[in-house]
Amino acid sequence: MKTKIATLFLIGIFYSTASEAQQQKTPSGYTYGTSAIAKSPMTLEELKLLQQSLLFGEDDIKYLKMSHEILKEQTSDILDVWYGFVASTPQLVYFFGNKTTGKPDGEYLAKVRERFAMWILQTAEANYDQKWLDYQYEIGLRHYSTKKNKTDNVNSVPIINYRYIPALTIPVTTTLKPFLAKKGASAEDVDKMYNAWVKSVLLQSILWGQPYMKKGEF
Ligand code: HEM
Repeated sequence: MKTKIATLFLIGIFYSTASEAQQQKTPSGYTYGTSAIAKSPMTLEELKLLQQSLLFGEDDIKYLKMSHEILKEQTSDILDVWYGFVASTPQLVYFFGNKTTGKPDGEYLAKVRERFAMWILQTAEANYDQKWLDYQYEIGLRHYSTKKNKTDNVNSVPIINYRYIPALTIPVTTTLKPFLAKKGASAEDVDKMYNAWVKSVLLQSILWGQPYMKKGEF
C-alpha cells in the first residue's frame, strides 16, 4: 500500500512539474468562463443571502485577495500536501480509482490536480460574479454523477458521496494555514486570511451540493 501511495504521489509531482513548465496554458477541461458552462440555477441575489448567512463579508473578500499574492507561487507545494492527504486516506482515494481494478488512476489524479491549482487562484481572486457562480455549479456536477469522469474521460467510480465534500473543508483549510504564514504576513493577517478561506471553501462545498438535491430542496 505504501509503495502504491508513493508511486501515486510521484506521478502527481511529475505531472504538476510538467504543467508548471507551461504555466500559461489552460489545463485540459478547465472551462471557467466559457460558453461550455451552463448557467447556475442559483441567482447572484441568492448567493448574497447565503454569504450573509455564513458571515462572509467585504473583509473576507479583502483577505482572500491578500492571500492571492502569497499563494500564487506555492500552489504546487500546497497540492503536494493535499494530494498526500487524499492518497493516504483510502475512503477518499477510492474516488480516483479505476472502476474495474479499484487502483488509483494516476493520470486522472494528475489532470484534476492542474484544475485544482487554478481553483486555488480563483478562490483567492474572490470574484463572486456570474461566471464564478456558474463554474461552481459545474464543479458540483463534476463531483456528482452527471459529469464525474466525463471531463477526463476516465473509467472511475460514478459519484463522490456528498458527505465527504463539506468534510474536506477542514483538511483543505487547516493545511493551507502554514502556507499563508510563509511570506511574512502578520499573525493577525494570517488568521484573517485563514478565516476567509474557511468561509469561502465552506460556501463552495455548499454550492456544490445543489445537484445532489431534488429540485426545490437546495
Ligand atoms: C472542500 C472540498 C473539496 C474541494 C475544495 C475540491 C476541489 C476540487 C476541484 C477544484 C476540482 C476540479 C474542478 C474542475 O474540474 O475544474 C475537483 C474535482 C474532483 N474532486 Fe474535489 N474537492 C473537494 C471535495 C472532494 C472530495 C471529498 C473528493 C473525494 C475524494 C473529491 C474528489 C474529486 C474528484 C474525483 C474530482 C474530479 C471529478 C471529475 O471531473 O471527474 N473532491 N475537486
